[in-house]
Amino acid sequence: MARWYLGIGVGFGIAAATAALSAADAPVEKLDFGRDVRAILSNNCFKCHGPDEKQRQAGLRLDQRDGAIAKLESGKVGIVAGKWSDSEIIARLTTDNADLKMPPPSSGKKVSPEQVATLKKLAATLHINQSSLPLLEAHRNENCGIIIS
Ligand code: HEC
Repeated sequence: MARWYLGIGVGFGIAAATAALSAADAPVEKLDFGRDVRAILSNNCFKCHGPDEKQRQAGLRLDQRDGAIAKLESGKVGIVAGKWSDSEIIARLTTDNADLKMPPPSSGKKVSPEQVATLKKLAATLHINQSSLPLLEAHRNENCGIIIS
């Protein structure tokens, strides 16, 4: 449990950490990959960062765990487990620079601030050292703060 609170604190700052600690007995809302995350990525990213090799941009594949956490040719990493602030997907989702913005404005796709917060939570609570944790496969892991289903 402590690790879960820590993960959230890192993701959402001191205010959230304080709130989480003071509500230590309250049930924690866990991220459910199937319910909370999958649709955001598939609707907005998979067209260019999904299974279709010919369409894939920048070598980034977000429909598989190994692709999502891989070092890219640019030297960046899509999702850095436990560190949303180092995760290039978050940098690209939140930048004001239209040339870098993901999804590209010209694609007509848009990710809401709430959805960005969910993806931050995904990155912040992902513990990649738990090698049994696939990002996109049906899997549940109660210990690492994220439920993937
Ligand atoms: C319409 C196609 C398209 C969609 C949809 C799209 N991208 Fe991209 N993405 C690109 C292209 C083209 C590049 C390479 C050019 C660049 O780096 O901006 C890129 C690059 C990136 C990079 C940088 C990779 C690197 O090498 O450093 C990240 C991270 C990224 N996209 C994340 C996302 C995320 C997250 C989504 C969904 C929310 C998304 N993209 C949706 C086309 C797309």
